Amino acid sequence: MESIDIYKVGLGLWKLPESECADIVYNAIKIGYRHLDSACDYGNEVEIGKGIARAIEDGICTRADLKITSKLWNTYHAKEHVELAFQKSLSDLGLTYLDTYLIHFPIAQPFVPFDTRYPPEWIMDPESETPEMVIAPVPLQETWQAMEALSEKGLVKEIGICNYTSGLLNDLMAYAKIKPAQLQIESHPYLTQERLIRLAKSYNISVTAFSPLGALSYLELDMAKQSESVLEQSVVVKAAERLNKTPAQIVLRWGVQRGCSIIPKSSNLNRLKENISIFDFCLSDDEMMAISALNINKRFNDPGDFCEAAFNKFYPIYD
Ligand code: A2P
Repeated sequence: MESIDIYKVGLGLWKLPESECADIVYNAIKIGYRHLDSACDYGNEVEIGKGIARAIEDGICTRADLKITSKLWNTYHAKEHVELAFQKSLSDLGLTYLDTYLIHFPIAQPFVPFDTRYPPEWIMDPESETPEMVIAPVPLQETWQAMEALSEKGLVKEIGICNYTSGLLNDLMAYAKIKPAQLQIESHPYLTQERLIRLAKSYNISVTAFSPLGALSYLELDMAKQSESVLEQSVVVKAAERLNKTPAQIVLRWGVQRGCSIIPKSSNLNRLKENISIFDFCLSDDEMMAISALNINKRFNDPGDFCEAAFNKFYPIYD
């Protein structure tokens, strides 16, 4: 069995309600989480910061024990806005540095001042009669160079990207002076992304899988149906029975055992404990292969779908 790397399971903070967020972060740290995955767009960084501060004040951990990620939102891609957005996340979180800062999407949108709206989300002018998402002509190279400047100033230990395809990654590697340390992508048994993960590893980039439980994250958003849950698949259920674990633990273990970090979200203390308790068992090679074979390239988080459905803009990025 491999040694336990507690940073391999982070707490995903997307959709954690503001009212419960500080307590959930505090309790997660108390039960052993040391990796927190935040973003400007999640709208709860002040509350996350309160949970972190309480855990440190209570002596549960030190700042150095934690790996804290945040992400640059689409409206701050221009070079003059990248540090501004970074500093806003940093001060909301109550921190003096970040472990990791990632470009959230390879999508640039026009700047929205903090006092107009924060987080700005996807729609340019929500009050307009025809609210829609707007695109800004900012090349990703410009944004990456501003990310490099954050790293050079010592404000962040690692920089990286999310939701990049292999084409964008190859391009980034051609111009990056500071290479990306991390790639964060949607990945679960219905979207294994084997080639992209292999490419990232060949560049020495570590991969974090978001939505590691697949459809579950999207039920509350009406972006998935219960019937699309991977937890009911017989190969998952059988492995759970063999190992006396829950189906969710099997799917999460598969995510870690294939070499990724995972960031499942839960607002329930029992499920938080369950999700981090995946280091005392191993899936067999056959089980790993059978779970990987469930792949149907099913993406739940696809701007090519939701930008048109919700923000009046057809804007595919994966095709
Ligand atoms: P809850 O917060 O009620 O636990 P994501 O894929 O974005 O990380 O979201 C995970 C989704 O799966 C959330 O809706 C979460 O709901 C649910 N969930 C998290 N852990 C478990 C688990 N161990 N078993 C079943 N559902 C889970």
